[in-house]
Amino acid sequence: MTPDELKAQVGRAALEYLVDGAVVGVGTGSTVNHFIDALATVRQRVAGAVSSSVASTTRLRAAGIEVLEADQVERIPVYIDGADEIDGHGFMIKGGGAALTREKIVADLADRFVCIADQSKQVAVLGRFPLPVEVIPMAVAQVVRRFARLGGQAVQRGRVVTDNGNAIVDVSGLAIRDPLAMETEINQWPGVVTVGIFARHKAQICLLGTPEGVKTLRF
Ligand code: A5P
Repeated sequence: MTPDELKAQVGRAALEYLVDGAVVGVGTGSTVNHFIDALATVRQRVAGAVSSSVASTTRLRAAGIEVLEADQVERIPVYIDGADEIDGHGFMIKGGGAALTREKIVADLADRFVCIADQSKQVAVLGRFPLPVEVIPMAVAQVVRRFARLGGQAVQRGRVVTDNGNAIVDVSGLAIRDPLAMETEINQWPGVVTVGIFARHKAQICLLGTPEGVKTLRF
């Protein structure tokens, strides 16, 4: 099976976690695109979606699914999103698609985070995938220097501008052995909007795509 077939498999499997009649939280990325395509086939089951990016909003609307603003809902039962890495506790690195801030906002509304990923995303220790961080543009150089003091090499992601008008830096060389502590620390730095460590908003379930079928991990 190709990586894309593995992603399609978990995108379809996520339909099982929809709560009928409720609004669903929808993440961003190539795996979520498969979920949106699957959701389109059962769209009458949900009251709509809260989206984590302009790209997902466009795809949802094209599929005939109503998109609500985050401030139109108080809670949602489930948020479905991909990950760049996920460890054995459900802690994740996210932000490869630069949507991490809105992803964390929608995840915060949800009772349950269901991660959908192909098996290449499973790791023992987070940090092989360069850690994305959304940063207010005037603070980029400062934040890069702070990461250097932690032993990380941070580089600005080209001319990428997030949906919120900010920059992304990607940090390599970090072994994230204590994701909760590192998320808390980096979140305090002036200019950091969101760090792509999802430990405080971890997954409760991961549907992992493997050639043998979908593996369900619970954390
Ligand atoms: C988007 O900003 C990310 O958090 C994605 O969820 C993550 O990069 C996974 O993307 P893919 O499903 O495309 O691998």
